[in-house]
Amino acid sequence: FAREPYESQRFSGVATEAMRARVGLSTKESMFSVVVGSLTVLGSTLVIIEGGLLVLRGSLTVGTLLVALAYLGFVYGPLAGIANTAGTIQQALASAARVRETLALAPERQEPGQRVSERFRGEVVFDRISFTYDGRPVLDDVSLTVRPGEFIALVGPSGAGKTTLVSLIPRFYEPASGHVLVDGLDVTRIRLADLRHQIAIVQQDSVVMSGTVMENLRYGRLDATPAEVRQAAVAAHAHEFIVDLPEGYDTDIGSPGTGLSGGQRQRISMARAFLKDAPILILDEPTAALDTISEREVFAGLAHLRAGRTTFVIAHRLSTVRNADRIVVMDAGRIVAVGTHAELLRTSGLYRELAAQFERPQEV
Ligand SMILES: Nc1ncnc2c1ncn2[C@@H]1O[C@H](COP(=O)(O)OP(=O)(O)OP(=O)(O)O)[C@@H](O)[C@H]1O
Ligand SMILES: [Mg+2]
Repeated sequence: FAREPYESQRFSGVATEAMRARVGLSTKESMFSVVVGSLTVLGSTLVIIEGGLLVLRGSLTVGTLLVALAYLGFVYGPLAGIANTAGTIQQALASAARVRETLALAPERQEPGQRVSERFRGEVVFDRISFTYDGRPVLDDVSLTVRPGEFIALVGPSGAGKTTLVSLIPRFYEPASGHVLVDGLDVTRIRLADLRHQIAIVQQDSVVMSGTVMENLRYGRLDATPAEVRQAAVAAHAHEFIVDLPEGYDTDIGSPGTGLSGGQRQRISMARAFLKDAPILILDEPTAALDTISEREVFAGLAHLRAGRTTFVIAHRLSTVRNADRIVVMDAGRIVAVGTHAELLRTSGLYRELAAQFERPQEV
């Protein structure tokens, strides 16, 4: 969601608070240790002087004075220990300073890159892409040109490289060779924040952050009004279950006991994508997380969501695939066939196999 600056600010707010608490505590501890130290020295001196005088006058024996001094020692031990904790806290402060340094480091490669402020038309070109994970080839010479506003369904067996391919658009990964172009611009040359600003993603495993439902939804667009947020939730079929939560949109879904189901998280994630209103939409369809009914509900909003956007859906269901302008069949890191549902049923054996599986989504 290209929310790095927001997240950084959120964290530094909390970190500064913790820091302030630590500094306050440490100041008090240090003052305490000074006071304790002074009292210790002063106390011993007084006892020795007073005791010495008494011994000289003969009203106290040397032995009693020594015993009194020994008792004093018992009291000083623990006091010194308490004073020492101040030192430990100093060390903790130093660690906190190092954490801050780490946070200050530039995330990923924030290279200058070209600023793109106008909205993309949404043309996406994969040009002879190869990609490896730890030396293992995952994508092999993949080329595909997607027109602005086109609806592409990606299908293929598990591990074919579908998620990896679409992850190259927002540059979660970079190809070993080849280029990804958006509106003719190589994505590696576009400023990362500007690139991601134009892409909305609903991931295979949707994440929900701590905070209220409203905060989670507004993550899609931080300046959205409550009315806009509600509208997005309705479009994503999330509104129904949200109003049934204990405190509706103000329910804290980060706290234990208010866990959301996979399908509900997915709908929150869809609503966020609605709010973001980006020209490129990427949807990694969940499989196991959703039962058939909530799947239908979630993706009922899709037709509305993808209007006017270049849309990539990694699809496991026939109803999604059927509506696509083009279906891309992937297998073992390659595109093995491209076409409409009817075309592929005739031309691709693998597609026929997959299509048969789509009819029984529970098996995936
Ligand atoms: N972070 C990673 N580190 C190493 N290997 C990975 C990583 N992510 C994916 N892979 C490997 O890359 C290959 C392609 O994975 P990818 O997630 O793109 O497949 P997929 O087509 O999306 O599969 P699925 O339908 O199960 O989601 C797989 O062999 C997978 O094991
Ligand atoms: Mg995947």
